[in-house]
Amino acid sequence: MKIATILGTRPEIIKMAPIIAEINRRGINQIVLHTGQHYDKEMSDNFFRDLEIPTPDYNIHVGSGSHGKQTGLMMKGIEEILLEEKPDIVLVQGDTNAVLAGALVCGKLHIAVGHVEAGLRSFDMTMPEEINRRVADICSTMYFIPTEESAINLLAEGFSRKNLLITGNTVVDACFRHLEIAKKRGFGEQSLKDLDIDNIDNILTLTMHRAENVDIKERVVNIIDALKELSDMNIIFPIHPRTKNTLENFGLFDELNNLDHVHIVKPIGYLDFLLLTSKSTLILTDSGGLQEEAITLDIPALTLRYNTERPETVTAGGNILVGSDKDAILGNARKILDDKEFADKMKNAVNPYGEGNAAEKTVDAIEQYYKEGLLNITAPEEVMDSFSRKMAQIEDDITVSEFESKENALVHMVFDGDKMRFPADELNINGMMITYDRQE
Ligand code: UD1
Ligand code: UDP
Repeated sequence: MKIATILGTRPEIIKMAPIIAEINRRGINQIVLHTGQHYDKEMSDNFFRDLEIPTPDYNIHVGSGSHGKQTGLMMKGIEEILLEEKPDIVLVQGDTNAVLAGALVCGKLHIAVGHVEAGLRSFDMTMPEEINRRVADICSTMYFIPTEESAINLLAEGFSRKNLLITGNTVVDACFRHLEIAKKRGFGEQSLKDLDIDNIDNILTLTMHRAENVDIKERVVNIIDALKELSDMNIIFPIHPRTKNTLENFGLFDELNNLDHVHIVKPIGYLDFLLLTSKSTLILTDSGGLQEEAITLDIPALTLRYNTERPETVTAGGNILVGSDKDAILGNARKILDDKEFADKMKNAVNPYGEGNAAEKTVDAIEQYYKEGLLNITAPEEVMDSFSRKMAQIEDDITVSEFESKENALVHMVFDGDKMRFPADELNINGMMITYDRQE
């Protein structure tokens, strides 16, 4: 079996690293393609170093540009490589342009796609990431889904439960493994050593790069106004290159940089970043990965967005959406900083993203699919049976898979009262309402 992994940005490198390492550990043939979307060493090379994974076999060097240009160049480069390498499955991660390009190319070449971190939805179609993840899901064969909630998103869109594999999120694997390494090593980045992070308290780690925030001056101004008033905190801001550019263009960089309690530093390596976040009292972010890491590390998070495709973090109680609203940012920050009980409740939120074995579960499933021939994408040869979708109230002790074999059916949705449940094989559906597709 040959597995190809496509990645191109910082979070993809971090979240694919545990899977790349697991594939290597099992001695499976693999190639890694870097699209080159992120190219600064602080956004790319340093992560291969920190996460101890080999440098990619290919780099397409697409660089920065419009969405169309970036995606088009990626598709051309990816297609050429895949035609040559002929992998059995291609893995894409998350919601960046690499995911869109990779999944579309594979769809057309009839190569199986495994979408890592599938099923997330912000329901905000103005986000480029929402388009990318939806299209990738349409083209995928295997879905590695972090939580039951995300799996239910896919069921609601009509996907069959059969290929929806709830694995947890590989960010937990990366976080647990590398935090230990980071603790033994201590801070490495000079910028953080200079700030003597080990010996200061009241740390607020800030990251923002989301186009819908940093490209809109009014939103940036509101966020900066809130930061000005948090002068009892040491705000550490490893700045994303996109944000540095826009702050400079808006003439806001110096204003923020001149605040005594705000320390803008270059993007920092993963080990340093994990140490920094784990030492923080509060995280203020619009990052997807950081919302997940915050709840994994038990640090309260305020998310600078009006919606999130990670609603589990909010319902679990570890994350609050504050948008770019100055009063909401300040009001919630003050509650966390001044009300110990409130902060403790946020810290104790249960992590919905698993125990740190997502990579193992993902590679187990790929090996199983390969063995069973399920990675071969072929047109149906037989005349298709007709299906009818039905609904039933179940009154017996019966599991989903028992029901399916008895009725020659495929369960689609399961409602336990007003709560939707994921139809896992072993779920006992007694007392539940289900919909199912029945082969006539
Ligand atoms: C991309 C992803 C986003 C993800 C983020 C992770 C898409 C649509 N967006 O956004 O989902 O959350 O990565 O960080 O795929 N730049 C540099 N050096 C680099 C990379 C970028 O200077 O190494 C600057 C360029 O000016 C570039 C800008 O940052 O135009 C934006 O980069 P781009 O890759 O287009 O999007 P991100 O904002 O990084
Ligand atoms: N991160 C890092 N150094 C930094 C900022 C972030 O290592 O200076 C890591 C962070 O731990 C998380 C990931 O980068 O795992 C998030 O990436 P980003 O916010 O760029 O993308 P998103 O997750 O929003 O797609």
